[in-house]
Amino acid sequence: MKKRMRRLRVNAQMRNLVRETYLNKSDLVYPVFVIEGENIKNPVDSMPGIYQYSIDRLGEEIDRVLSVGIEAVLLFGIPAKKDERASGAYDRDGVTQRAIRFLKEKAPRLLVAADVCLCEYTSHGHCGLICGEEILNDETLPLLAEMAVSLADAGADIIAPSDMMDGRVAYIREALDQAGHQNTMIMAYSAKFASGYYSPFREAAQSAPQFGDRKTYQMDPANRREAIREWKEDIEEGADVIMIKPALAYLDIVREAADRTDYPIAVYNVSGEYAMVKAAAAQGFIDEKRIVMENMTAMKRAGAKIIITYHAPDVAKWLTEADGDTPF
Ligand code: PBG
Ligand code: ZN
Repeated sequence: MKKRMRRLRVNAQMRNLVRETYLNKSDLVYPVFVIEGENIKNPVDSMPGIYQYSIDRLGEEIDRVLSVGIEAVLLFGIPAKKDERASGAYDRDGVTQRAIRFLKEKAPRLLVAADVCLCEYTSHGHCGLICGEEILNDETLPLLAEMAVSLADAGADIIAPSDMMDGRVAYIREALDQAGHQNTMIMAYSAKFASGYYSPFREAAQSAPQFGDRKTYQMDPANRREAIREWKEDIEEGADVIMIKPALAYLDIVREAADRTDYPIAVYNVSGEYAMVKAAAAQGFIDEKRIVMENMTAMKRAGAKIIITYHAPDVAKWLTEADGDTPF
C-alpha cells in the first residue's frame, strides 16, 4: 500500500474538511492610538493605514471597526505634556481615560483594553521612573497601579500591563480589587522581548526612550526558558491572559506557552511586523492578503487564541467575504 498524503489535498472541499486551524473575528484585538487635541487624524508614516486620532475623530475609526465585526480594541494614549513622573498616565481626565469613557458610551459592548505603561507619558520615554540612568522597579509599581485603577474607573474591561517591572501584576490586581474592580481582566505582557520590531510603534506613540534602551526590563530575545519563568510568575500573581510579544519571530515561545499552561494565550503582532508586510506589499513584492492570512494562521497554529494586530480590520473584512472558509 502506498501512502498518499495528497488524497487530503485534492480539492478545496477536501482541504476544508481536514483543515486544523481556523481564525475567527472574535480572536482579533485592534490597537488604536488616541492623541490629545482636536480634529486630528495623523498618519503614522511607517504604518500605512494607521493614524493617531483625537477623541473627537475617534468615532469615525470605531464605526469602521465595528462595521467589519471587530469586538475588541487596545488603546494607547498620547498626552499633550510629558513629565518625569508620567502624570498624564494616571490623570483621571487624561487622554486615555477620556477616550475610554467616550468608547464605552458610544459602543458599550466593544471590549476596551488599555495598555498600562509609563513610556508614552514620561519625558525620558522609559517605562518606569528613573534615578539617573537606572529604571526603578518598586517605585514604579504604585504609579502603574494608580494608572490601572484610573483606566478601570473610566470603564476599561481589560488592563494590559506592558512595562515589564517585576511584581506589577500582583500590585495591579490588588489595587483593582481594592477599588472594586474584581471583574476587570488582566492581560499581562508576560514574555515581552527587547525587540527591534517596536520601532514604528515608538513613532506612533511618541514613546522612544531618550537615553539607553529597554534591555534592563524587557527580555533578551535569546531566552526561551526565562520566558517560562515570566509567565509562571504572572499567572501566580493573578494574570488572566498571558501575552507573548512580538509574534512571528517568537512562535516557538507561543507553542511552549500553549503546551505548558491552561491559560488563554495572546500574541502581539507588533508594529515592525506590520510595517514589513505593508512595505513589501506596497512594492508589489508580496500578495498582502495571502501573507497576512498566512501569518494569522501561523499564530493560531502556534497556540495563540487572541491576536492583537494592526491588520485586524482587513482580516475581519476578508473573513466575512470568505464566509467561513479560510481566505487563502
Ligand atoms: C509600551 C508598549 C510598546 C509596545 C506596546 N506597548 C513599545 C515598547 O515597549 O517600546 C509595542 C507595540 C508595537 O510595536 O506594535 N511599553
Ligand atoms: Zn512602556
